[in-house]
Amino acid sequence: MITVREALPEDINDVYSIACECFNHPWSADMLLQEIRKDRSIVVVAEVDGEVVGFAALAVMFDEGHITNVAVKKDHRKKGVASMMMKSLMQLSEKFPLCMLTLEVRISNVDAINLYKSKGFVIVGARANYYNDTNEDALIMSIFYEVENE
Ligand SMILES: CC(C)(COP(=O)(O)OP(=O)(O)OC[C@H]1O[C@@H](n2cnc3c(N)ncnc32)[C@H](O)[C@@H]1OP(=O)(O)O)[C@@H](O)C(=O)NCCC(=O)NCCS
Repeated sequence: MITVREALPEDINDVYSIACECFNHPWSADMLLQEIRKDRSIVVVAEVDGEVVGFAALAVMFDEGHITNVAVKKDHRKKGVASMMMKSLMQLSEKFPLCMLTLEVRISNVDAINLYKSKGFVIVGARANYYNDTNEDALIMSIFYEVENE
């Protein structure tokens, strides 16, 4: 069974190890720990049988929520883990008055693009040569929320 919960500082070793497995240029353990501790960031972890198998993070900047990391261990992919973590991040982010959620994704990362589309994100733009390692372009994907005017 997959369960998702907010990350605790003691999850940092698992979170950093998953980041290293999943990204060419992972955030440092210090940066990830700061995100876990920050009031204006949300980090969730997914567990299967007590093992942390994925994490996802969102940072609030002004009235925007930036999805900064979504990663699942290779042998636990295609089971709905990322989908559950995204749902949880989106629900938890409702405590902030956000006008949008946004993220960048490699144009070749079809799995991630499909995941975000399934959560309602739409492609709103691109950044040329965004990734230093391959010069690959990034797609910008976002969800916009209605903001009530007083
Ligand atoms: C992108 C990533 C986070 C997706 O994680 P995941 O846990 O495999 O994602 P999900 O299982 O929720 O969804 C992936 C697919 O599995 C399918 N799936 C979900 N549950 C399933 C199940 N029980 N059986 C079969 N397929 C299933 C989903 O429908 C989805 O299919 P689609 O790609 O055809 O739409 C993962 O591939 C990853 O960590 N990649 C490396 C890091 C990365 O690129 N992160 C994103 C950076 S922007």
